[in-house]
Amino acid sequence: MFNNNFNKLDDYIRQHSSPESELLQELSRQTHLKVMRPRMLSEHIQGRVLSMLSRMIVPQNILEIGTFTGYSALCLAEGLAKQGRLFTYDVNDEIEEFTRSFIEKSSFADQIIYKIADARDALPKLDVMFDLAFIDGDKRQYPGYFKLVLPKLRKGGFIIADNVLWSEKVIDESAHNDPYTKGVLDFNRMVTQSDEVENVIFPFRDGLMVLQKK
Ligand SMILES: C[S@@+](CC[C@H](N)C(=O)[O-])C[C@H]1O[C@@H](n2cnc3c(N)ncnc32)[C@H](O)[C@@H]1O
Repeated sequence: MFNNNFNKLDDYIRQHSSPESELLQELSRQTHLKVMRPRMLSEHIQGRVLSMLSRMIVPQNILEIGTFTGYSALCLAEGLAKQGRLFTYDVNDEIEEFTRSFIEKSSFADQIIYKIADARDALPKLDVMFDLAFIDGDKRQYPGYFKLVLPKLRKGGFIIADNVLWSEKVIDESAHNDPYTKGVLDFNRMVTQSDEVENVIFPFRDGLMVLQKK
């Protein structure tokens, strides 16, 4: 019964939210056909949420850790200020060509700087202050990302971090020693204890931590 309603509600939400663009639909389809672990992709509603948050902020500079096939990057780019830029990093060079081809087909091709690099190496060398950062890389590295990104965030800027409920493992004590769950738990604790930010978990999909630098 609950599942039945859940699916119906899910359909209702999709039907009453803006649709994906044709390019995003095609990106999602091709990712599912051709790329390993397609579930990592942000889907329709999460994409619309990211787009809407970005439109509210109208960022000049966006940082993304974890490009994958570019779905979330293209959604976040929808909110960029005129001449704004989005820097996105991924360590996986196997899907570089695939991802780059979709970025190039989009209207944001000139604004998205996509690099194959470990964000932990690239960020300290980057002389840019960000208005918005989307953290969606390796969950074990989340605490490290937070330490690196916060100094690069302007006052009043936002960080959005995906998967902070980690399939509900954050409340399952038997999972607390696995390094992925531990990374997420440490990140959530670190953010909540920081007096440099205001934060809230959006209880949506796998949990989005949204925080603002004071
Ligand atoms: C969940 S996927 C990203 C999904 C994408 N943001 C989306 O919503 O469609 C995570 C990605 O982070 C990348 N990644 C893991 N560690 C990283 C690091 N240290 N720097 C940059 N990318 C990293 C992985 O290769 C993987 O493609």
